[in-house]
Amino acid sequence: MANAHWTRRHVLSLADFTPEEYDTVLQTAASFGEVLTRRTKKVPALQGQVITNLFFESSTRTRSSFELAAKRLSADVLNFAAGTSSLTKGETILDTAKTYLAMGTDMMVIRHREAGVPAAIAQEMDRLGTNVGVLNAGDGQHEHPSQALLDLFTLTTLYDPAHPRLEVLKDKKIAIVGDILHSRVARSNIWSLTASGAEVHLAGPPTLLPKLFADFVKVDPPNPATAGNPPPLDRKLFIHWQLEPALQDADYVMTLRLQKERMTSHLLPSLREYHLQFGITEERLKLCKPNVKVLHPGPTNRGVEISSEVMDSPKFSLISQQVTSGVAVRMALLYLMGSGRS
Ligand code: NCD
Repeated sequence: MANAHWTRRHVLSLADFTPEEYDTVLQTAASFGEVLTRRTKKVPALQGQVITNLFFESSTRTRSSFELAAKRLSADVLNFAAGTSSLTKGETILDTAKTYLAMGTDMMVIRHREAGVPAAIAQEMDRLGTNVGVLNAGDGQHEHPSQALLDLFTLTTLYDPAHPRLEVLKDKKIAIVGDILHSRVARSNIWSLTASGAEVHLAGPPTLLPKLFADFVKVDPPNPATAGNPPPLDRKLFIHWQLEPALQDADYVMTLRLQKERMTSHLLPSLREYHLQFGITEERLKLCKPNVKVLHPGPTNRGVEISSEVMDSPKFSLISQQVTSGVAVRMALLYLMGSGRS
């Protein structure tokens, strides 16, 4: 199993991921993808290890996907759901994490609606001198690394299913459309897709895609928040307040859910208006390359950011492949964090 380039105990962000690390995840996921096609879909890689899913925010696919990934690696899995936990009795998040530590947890998979919670727990685990690895499964509007890695796997395996590599996306045009302001999926994908050498075009209404967003990857002048990061790659990121220039000749279109729960003020005239301006429809896809494919992290608002016909179209939609990829990619991450550290 390829792991020569892996030294991370925690996966919290893709901001400082190197091309070698992306390729290590892709290749490891491809190996586990092969395991998942066998009759016996389980390997003993993490036998005896305890993986705890700490989801302080709702989730369908991410939580189930991590659970299945951990089980396929033969780990023991503990699932925590905020609504039915002692949080409702006033226990703090750190004390909850320490409770699971005392039960022998080896890795924690954490989702929280506030940015920075997984990093804070990781810091505490390090301060206590534990070996516990923390994986960010989505923190507020910040990052969702495993989602971006499964998107990357979905795209790169289209070229070579057994040997997916970052470089196959070089110079491809990828449009990311919609509510980018609130999207941790977009933030993580910007890191990974620009690291591949793809041209990434963001499109959304000005209220959901402020111009300041450009500072995200601009290195000149350096952004103090990311000083030293990202690694000196030639990142190509463009911002559009109309859909058409982003879609023109695009190879891939990633559309995002309109995150109504994160909107604090009235940022849009109406959902109908939004669909008319930024909804991905078959008609709109005519602007793209003829073989364009569409991604969406789910959950979707049918008829808002994406039409039902595109969502259900075997010709355009990669949505179910993304869900399938999620298990292999999460197996790879847990494996690398748990036993693949060189
Ligand atoms: C995303 C999330 O929760 O960040 N979904 C996911 O993990 N598949 C995107 C979203 O909520 O819109």
